[in-house]
Amino acid sequence: MALIPSIIDGDEARHADGILAILNHAIVHSTALYDYHPRTAASMGPWFAARRAAGAPVLVIEDSAGVAAFATWGPFRPFPAYRHTMEHSVYVRHDARGRGLGRLLLTALVERAEAAGVHMLVGAISADNGPSIRLHEACGFHHAGTVREAGRKFGRWLDLALYQRILSGPADPAEG
Ligand SMILES: CC(C)(COP(=O)(O)OP(=O)(O)OC[C@H]1O[C@@H](n2cnc3c(N)ncnc32)[C@H](O)[C@@H]1OP(=O)(O)O)[C@@H](O)C(=O)NCCC(=O)NCCS
Repeated sequence: MALIPSIIDGDEARHADGILAILNHAIVHSTALYDYHPRTAASMGPWFAARRAAGAPVLVIEDSAGVAAFATWGPFRPFPAYRHTMEHSVYVRHDARGRGLGRLLLTALVERAEAAGVHMLVGAISADNGPSIRLHEACGFHHAGTVREAGRKFGRWLDLALYQRILSGPADPAEG
């Protein structure tokens, strides 16, 4: 029987290079990220700092090659009334896909968000990203709408599909 991989909290010194490699592969080869150019190693300090500022976990699954997959969240939009909504991301290294790691991490991320009192998680998914859309549907996310021609990459317009999952808390948070 296959072992269930461990999910650990990411550590900047240990995991920054592996996360960067996964992000850059997605940037160069796919529409999963709407960047045009690979990021530099120097970008990872601010990347981790932004997660800490958002109180967000960086969940990691390791394998013998390093970081096999990670998931995290950050602010959805930079205005106070959005503060209970987080935009999440989940990435699996290209040679580790199709083995259940994405589902495992997204499920764990939802549990962490519930525990942290997040009201809603939103995935902003390029509409041509079938595997991610099916993963989100399999994990209880619902299609909230699609923004047509929201981005442009590889010589074509990209539609952005929003997938949301409303969580249990907080019921009546303070405003202001
Ligand atoms: C999307 C992604 C995270 C899925 O991770 P994964 O570990 O390969 O997915 P899993 O093996 O856990 O599959 C979970 C479910 O997702 C769906 N899925 C995953 N890959 C799929 C594929 N290639 N085609 C169709 N459905 C797929 C299926 O519903 C699957 O459930 P099933 O195995 O019961 O059929 C991975 O493909 C990835 O990292 N892609 C590049 C980055 C990315 O797009 N991230 C999301 C940005 S919004």
